[in-house]
Amino acid sequence: MNNVKRSILIFNVLYLLQYPIESYGDRIKDKMYEDIPSSSACFRKLNGTHQIGCSSTRGGSTGVIHFCDTEKDLEDILANGTGYPYIPILDYGLFNPTILDTMISSDKVNGLILYTNEDNPVKNLTHEHPCPNPYSSIEGTCKKESPWNPWGTGLLYKDIPFPIFYVDSEKDMELIRSCFEKFNNFSYSEQIDRSLCSLELKSFMFATTNTPTCIRRSNIVSNLNPQKFCDPLGNQNIWASLQPLAEGPKKNETKPLKGYKYIIVTAKLDTTSLFEKTSGASSPATGIVTLLTLAKYLNDTIMMDDVRNAKKNVLFFLFNGETYDYIGSQRMVYDMIRGNFPLENADNLDVLPVIKPADVQLLIEISQLGNAKGKFYVHHLKENENINKFLDYMKNYTTPDTYESVPNSLPPASLHTFLKNIPDFPGILITDHKTTYSNHFYNSIYDNSGNIKFKYYNLTEDSKNDELLPKESIQYFIKNVTETLGKSIYQEITGKAYNGKINADTVLIDELLHCYLEDANCKVHQAIRRDIKLPKIPLSLYVSVKGSDNIASNLAGLTLGWLTGNSVGPGNINCTNTPRAYAFRFYNMSKSLRELNVSVCYQVTMNATDAVSPAFSIKDYDWTSGQYSSWTESTWKEINVRLFLRPSANQGKITMAIGCITMAFSFMLVFFLKSKSSVLFAPLLPTESPADC
Ligand SMILES: *[C@@H]1O[C@H](CO)[C@@H](O)[C@H](O)[C@H]1NC(C)=O
Ligand SMILES: *[C@@H]1O[C@H](CO)[C@@H](O)[C@H](O)[C@H]1NC(C)=O
Ligand SMILES: *[C@@H]1O[C@H](CO)[C@@H](O)[C@H](O)[C@H]1NC(C)=O
Ligand SMILES: *[C@@H]1O[C@H](CO)[C@@H](O)[C@H](O)[C@H]1NC(C)=O
Ligand SMILES: *[C@@H]1O[C@H](CO)[C@@H](O)[C@H](O)[C@H]1NC(C)=O
Ligand SMILES: *[C@@H]1O[C@H](CO)[C@@H](O)[C@H](O)[C@H]1NC(C)=O
Ligand SMILES: *[C@@H]1O[C@H](CO)[C@@H](O)[C@H](O)[C@H]1NC(C)=O
Ligand SMILES: *[C@@H]1O[C@H](CO)[C@@H](O)[C@H](O)[C@H]1NC(C)=O
Ligand SMILES: *[C@@H]1O[C@H](CO)[C@@H](O)[C@H](O)[C@H]1NC(C)=O
Ligand SMILES: *[C@@H]1O[C@H](CO)[C@@H](O)[C@H](O)[C@H]1NC(C)=O
Ligand SMILES: *[C@@H]1O[C@H](CO)[C@@H](O)[C@H](O)[C@H]1NC(C)=O
Ligand SMILES: *[C@@H]1O[C@H](CO)[C@@H](O)[C@H](O)[C@H]1NC(C)=O
Repeated sequence: MNNVKRSILIFNVLYLLQYPIESYGDRIKDKMYEDIPSSSACFRKLNGTHQIGCSSTRGGSTGVIHFCDTEKDLEDILANGTGYPYIPILDYGLFNPTILDTMISSDKVNGLILYTNEDNPVKNLTHEHPCPNPYSSIEGTCKKESPWNPWGTGLLYKDIPFPIFYVDSEKDMELIRSCFEKFNNFSYSEQIDRSLCSLELKSFMFATTNTPTCIRRSNIVSNLNPQKFCDPLGNQNIWASLQPLAEGPKKNETKPLKGYKYIIVTAKLDTTSLFEKTSGASSPATGIVTLLTLAKYLNDTIMMDDVRNAKKNVLFFLFNGETYDYIGSQRMVYDMIRGNFPLENADNLDVLPVIKPADVQLLIEISQLGNAKGKFYVHHLKENENINKFLDYMKNYTTPDTYESVPNSLPPASLHTFLKNIPDFPGILITDHKTTYSNHFYNSIYDNSGNIKFKYYNLTEDSKNDELLPKESIQYFIKNVTETLGKSIYQEITGKAYNGKINADTVLIDELLHCYLEDANCKVHQAIRRDIKLPKIPLSLYVSVKGSDNIASNLAGLTLGWLTGNSVGPGNINCTNTPRAYAFRFYNMSKSLRELNVSVCYQVTMNATDAVSPAFSIKDYDWTSGQYSSWTESTWKEINVRLFLRPSANQGKITMAIGCITMAFSFMLVFFLKSKSSVLFAPLLPTESPADC
């Protein structure tokens, strides 16, 4: 009994020694440990030779926060502050290569938080290269003196040694700010003596160095290390034909329509930004919306008989991953040249006609159209008979102050990929700019609806639309471009000038822009997917990684299918994909935007092909060659941001000292107890004899 009492006493002494500090720590912890949920991280990507982006340390990077309103604030705190390491908090508009270099070279910065200062809107912000996709575009198409994206800083492609987060919500920023004011924002030279408001940034990235290193490491299969370090960027390209590519007696027994020429209309599907969050108004939404509207316009004006008589059809492509060295178009051209488009091994299957680059009469790519001043530009690199003919048609459906042809010029576009592989490939590019981007926010989170001055008019399908919609609105501009392209394509196919009365559908334009920029749960998405309810925010337009679900490209595909599909009856039990049809798919979709609740069965030609760089399927690919896109994205386990109060250095020292004293004391105690153990713990006499063995 005595022994137990003594032990308890000893324990209590030790416990009391630690008590005051621990209880203080607990109080702080309870009061100040806040998640910052609206933060989005900068993450790591790799190409054949480099790594870019950010990563925290394995356990998370911590630092004392400091609001910097100017560059001088940052320099001052780095020079005079004693509480480092710091995590500066900057207005996103202030973030540029100079300030980043200041932070990196100081060695006192452990992370960075960026936020939007509503009072001080930025005029230009793009961290893309001045010449986007510099290594995969045709040489000489972007001049150093007058680059396409003159505001571009190239920071998207920099390897940054600390984590960066963007905090979206005003509420979260208020929380951080009030903590800063209370604990940090005075006498910086004595910060070391105080408890300081700090952040913990967790965004540890598993992959390092470059794509081949990461793939090699991922392929080392062992039970101890079942870890995938990175995934190729990529997703799916979407394609559809205006009229079917096959016909036949039964829906599952069709024959391909061979010997046709094709006019291809393309746009890109993706964008990027420094963070997980994207916005893509001018690029890519205006291009996607114009392509989709054009699809509907052509569906209304060009009939199957026109196509059959001319032996010319129209194909629509939406390329994914174009932001990262043209992933989608590189794969498409790779497949087309090898006879693997529209289906792998298409020749032997005899289901759809094989479409090769030589079958393409003209490619029309629709690029950024968000910041025009009433005029659009048609870029083309080389003289070509097909191009000239089409430009002549276009001239007849425009006036000189709404349209201009720009020869010997080609801004970054999927067309580069086609021209690199087939030098005399006929293609044109439609944009809102002549020599430099009119979009000052290319590939940044500020390329949003405000950037293209989009206002949702919630139009209904009646004759008043033209009055409601201002002539200088983005909707009207897209209508003008669509009609010019649509009528010219009509003339190209039928050989006759268009003199019908059909207009581009302004309700559709209004709704589509609303879908892409404001509300994914919009009417168009309700029409094509009767079964899902999406959040009331825009969808992410980042390409993401091979094999992952990309809702945005999925929905864009269904929308394209809907707008080019044929209605083949009511949407009932007979609308089915069994027995399997190889040339078509069947979907229940709304009859129109006006009749959302009427379900119709659509026969759809739309399908998807892989948009994953050929580099990942070529054996022994030379990763340094730069021939194909080599981008991968690192995997991670956890991404979050937490606010907490870091105890003062003195407090830390006291804790440490007491810890040491306690330890020394316990050693002594143990030594004492052990040396006197014979006295203190007199051996108990066995009260029972041991059990028999
Ligand atoms: C990878 O990216 C870096 C940084 O942008 C660039 O310098 C390098 O040339 C790229 N490598 C390849 C193989 O594309
Ligand atoms: C910080 O130090 C610089 C000199 O290095 C001095 O000029 C400046 O006034 C100091 N700022 C503050 C806020 O103490
Ligand atoms: C970008 O905007 C900032 C101000 O917001 C301005 O100082 C700078 O000159 C602009 N850059 C260019 C290239 O116009
Ligand atoms: C920090 O203090 C300075 C001067 O006391 C003040 O001007 C500034 O607005 C404060 N910063 C924040 C973020 O409250
Ligand atoms: C098409 O479907 C019918 C049944 O509806 C079946 O008898 C026929 O074999 C199918 N043809 C092919 C090529 O699958
Ligand atoms: C353009 O229109 C004029 C007048 O209507 C017509 O004479 C000419 O042939 C047209 N050009 C083309 C390329 O259709
Ligand atoms: C659009 O108009 C309809 C009624 O016509 C209304 O129910 C709906 O809330 C409006 N949508 C928006 C986003 O204003
Ligand atoms: C569209 O075209 C019409 C007629 O050509 C013109 O009046 C109008 O200004 C154009 N609108 C835009 C935004 O380009
Ligand atoms: C496209 O045209 C076909 C007939 O040519 C028609 O059945 C279908 O409803 C049209 N699609 C749309 C969305 O108007
Ligand atoms: C269309 O809807 C009917 C009943 O609502 C269902 O039986 C059928 O499977 C659906 N078809 C498709 C292709 O989803
Ligand atoms: C489906 O098709 C069959 C045979 O064509 C027909 O008898 C049946 O009435 C159809 N069902 C519906 C719901 O329309
Ligand atoms: C769509 O593409 C896939 C993959 O290439 C193919 O298996 C399928 O047969 C195609 N057609 C339809 C109608 O799904």
